[in-house]
Amino acid sequence: MTADKELYGVVAEFTDVTTLYRAAEKVRDAGYKKWDCHTPFPVHGLDDAMGIRFTRLPWVVLIMGITGLLSGMYLQYWTNAVDYAFDISGKPVWSLPANIPVIFEVTVLFSAFTAFFAMWIANRLPRWYHPLFRSDRFARATDDRFFIALHAKDKKFDLAAATALLKGAGAGEVEEVYEANEPSGMPSVIKGNLWVVACLMLIPPAMVYASYGSTTTQPRVHLIPDMDKQDRFRAQGETELFEDGRMTRDQVAGTIGQDQRFIHASLETGKENGEFVTSFPTQIEVTEAFIDRGQERFEIYCGICHGEDGKGSGVIHERAMELANLGQATWVPPTNVTVSLIANQTDGMLFETISEGRRTMPGYAAQIPAEDRWAIIAYLRVLQEVEVMNALSPEEMAALGAASRGEILFTQKICVGCHSLNGVALVGPPLNGFLDSEIKLDTGETIVADADYFKESILDPAAKIREGALKGLMVLAGDPLTDEEISDLLEYIKTQN
Ligand code: HEC
Ligand code: HEC
Repeated sequence: MTADKELYGVVAEFTDVTTLYRAAEKVRDAGYKKWDCHTPFPVHGLDDAMGIRFTRLPWVVLIMGITGLLSGMYLQYWTNAVDYAFDISGKPVWSLPANIPVIFEVTVLFSAFTAFFAMWIANRLPRWYHPLFRSDRFARATDDRFFIALHAKDKKFDLAAATALLKGAGAGEVEEVYEANEPSGMPSVIKGNLWVVACLMLIPPAMVYASYGSTTTQPRVHLIPDMDKQDRFRAQGETELFEDGRMTRDQVAGTIGQDQRFIHASLETGKENGEFVTSFPTQIEVTEAFIDRGQERFEIYCGICHGEDGKGSGVIHERAMELANLGQATWVPPTNVTVSLIANQTDGMLFETISEGRRTMPGYAAQIPAEDRWAIIAYLRVLQEVEVMNALSPEEMAALGAASRGEILFTQKICVGCHSLNGVALVGPPLNGFLDSEIKLDTGETIVADADYFKESILDPAAKIREGALKGLMVLAGDPLTDEEISDLLEYIKTQN
């Protein structure tokens, strides 16, 4: 220790806790700020004696936690409601409950990292060397001696006064400690280890680089071989194990292969020999209880979209139309499943619609067991039957005005499924204000919508396409419309101008 070295501070040795404790109070009262006590075991109340205030770390963690919470919220809001808004069954694009897991995770992430790194920073860690370790006496701090170290950087520090203060407080020895002029950086052992780790980290990229452009079918490194390398029987292989020398064995009598799974083909698929069945499978017995079951299932699974009466105005539809009206969604309305077009479909086809979905409608095979799907069809048939009973007879239809007949046809022929009459674009353009309007075609030509164009649009939808309209999507099920039907529809459309 030479005088030209910088003074770190003084360290005072105490032989018992009580003296140390009292001394700490004196140092505190003398107004020192940069100092510390070193004891072989925790001393209760020493923090108070030293005047150490409670750590501010929790506040830092709280602030960063709130920052995390807001970031998590903003992340979800921006991705789900702004950048890539996705309409799922008319649900709001952003709602708190669905976002809580991510918000929670981000809050925890920010808090945890803050707590970890702020603790290191607040304690000025990592620190590789401390001048106090240069005092031989100080080694006993881990054994049977107690120390107070005063830092020379403290504003109040004065060597003589500090020494006097500590002596007066009962210190045995007061020693001056100097900064070492040895390097205070990272110890060379740790440095060396870090180099080794850094080199090891180069191995994976090196392996990736080495297999670049390689054409082998074998994995270079096969850490978890599973059963890839087991001895096994291969089709067509030879073995001595069996008398006939073949590896391939015959199927055990009575087992069922994957492709033989549907023993009750029509019950599970609605098809027989590739054709839709036209009646219920024999395993199904249609009773009143069965239809009641079907009604219950229909109201649970289908009513939300198709409405409990099957006419297409379920809650999801209503909500989606609200959004469509605001221009926030495009929506294909659920089909009115009571109309004759659907009633004329075979049982098997309806079964397939429910099981696998049709166009924009999703399939429900995963949610509804096959028998319940048949029960739903039984109930659908009841709804359709009621519709037939309520339908007007041909005479009554004839007695109606053309426009009223057109209105019925507009529903019956499912024009409603693609065309609104309130200006909202569904799959097809809205048809209110259609007649006599100017229509710009995708060829650039402009035409005036007249009766001929109306008729052509129905009989040959692809002939002329309005600019921006979805091409090839106007598909009409069932028989082609007759001239009378088209003119009835036209009369109805006229009333909507
Ligand atoms: C999430 C809403 C939704 C649910 C739930 C739903 N559907 Fe649909 N369904 C639709 C939509 C939309 C269409 C029209 C599809 C299209 O034309 O692209 C449709 C069409 C249909 C059709 C007509 C298919 C055709 O050949 O044109 C039938 C029949 C039908 N649904 C029956 C059902 C039954 C039965 C259930 C209950 C198991 C059900 N749907 C549940 C939305 C739904
Ligand atoms: C499956 C959906 C779908 C159904 C059902 C449907 N349309 Fe369309 N319709 C469209 C689409 C898409 C267009 C625009 C592209 C085109 O002209 O083919 C269109 C175009 C039209 C046009 C021309 C509109 C214009 O602005 O150019 C008329 C008129 C029309 N449809 C009438 C009907 C009538 C009447 C029915 C019922 C008998 C009907 N559509 C049923 C999808 C449909």
